[in-house]
Amino acid sequence: MYTIRPAQLSDVPAMAALSADGFLTDRNTMVKAMGPDPYDHKETMEMLLPGWIALDPATRGWTVVAVEDATQEVAGWVSWGRAGYVPAPSAEPFDHDENERKAQAEPDPLERLNKLSSANFKRWMNTKLMPPASGKERCLYVFSISVAPKHQGRGVGQLLAQTGMAEADKDGVDIWVHGSEAAQRLFPKLGWKVIGEYDLDLDEYAIAPPPPPDTKWGHYVFKYMLYTPKPKE
Ligand SMILES: CC(C)(COP(=O)(O)OP(=O)(O)OC[C@H]1O[C@@H](n2cnc3c(N)ncnc32)[C@H](O)[C@@H]1OP(=O)(O)O)[C@@H](O)C(=O)NCCC(=O)NCCS
Repeated sequence: MYTIRPAQLSDVPAMAALSADGFLTDRNTMVKAMGPDPYDHKETMEMLLPGWIALDPATRGWTVVAVEDATQEVAGWVSWGRAGYVPAPSAEPFDHDENERKAQAEPDPLERLNKLSSANFKRWMNTKLMPPASGKERCLYVFSISVAPKHQGRGVGQLLAQTGMAEADKDGVDIWVHGSEAAQRLFPKLGWKVIGEYDLDLDEYAIAPPPPPDTKWGHYVFKYMLYTPKPKE
């Protein structure tokens, strides 16, 4: 059994470590973790989590952990963001085509992979997921969700996802996620709809082949998924 509670700063080392373990088999993360300046997921989470935990839960976002009752071990966590709960300055017009052209022109393959994914993500956020003055700019979104490999497949991911879905139902807002391959096995089961995807041929960017016996990294498809709140009774 697992209990959900708000995350604390003292949880950060355990949260970062389990997230790094969770992403160890994510092929996009594996490709990014090669090269002279490899992406380090644990380090990135250690940097980001304190900021996410410190957000004002009413207006900016919140983070919860799932703790295993028997061991008191942190088994997983999710950070939720809130958009449009406080007035924001109106965004400057942004040329997404130009941004994507620039990303495509990046000579370093791993940088190109990063820049292309970010450019696509930015286009989706600004034009589809929460475009300004669309009525969708007030919403929730997933910063990140992870379950330690040894606790996976036991419903912890669902428990964590439901903490945001309950909030979305209460507030009558959508939630979106830029979903990894593992996320695509979790959210659709809970009623989230796939509304778009971004297909990357990892072999175009990888600077070394995958671990044997595989000879190709293959395609990695990010999916943009949306939860719409239950109508209020
Ligand atoms: C996505 C993730 C959080 C799901 O957590 P989880 O605790 O395993 O999820 P659940 O146990 O609630 O499982 C949800 C469903 O997915 C299935 N599932 C989970 N992991 C699976 C796997 N590796 N392979 C196949 N199915 C899997 C479960 O069996 C379950 O289906 P069921 O209800 O029919 O049994 C977890 O896999 C993870 O941390 N992955 C690495 C990090 C990541 O990609 N995060 C998402 C970023 S957007």
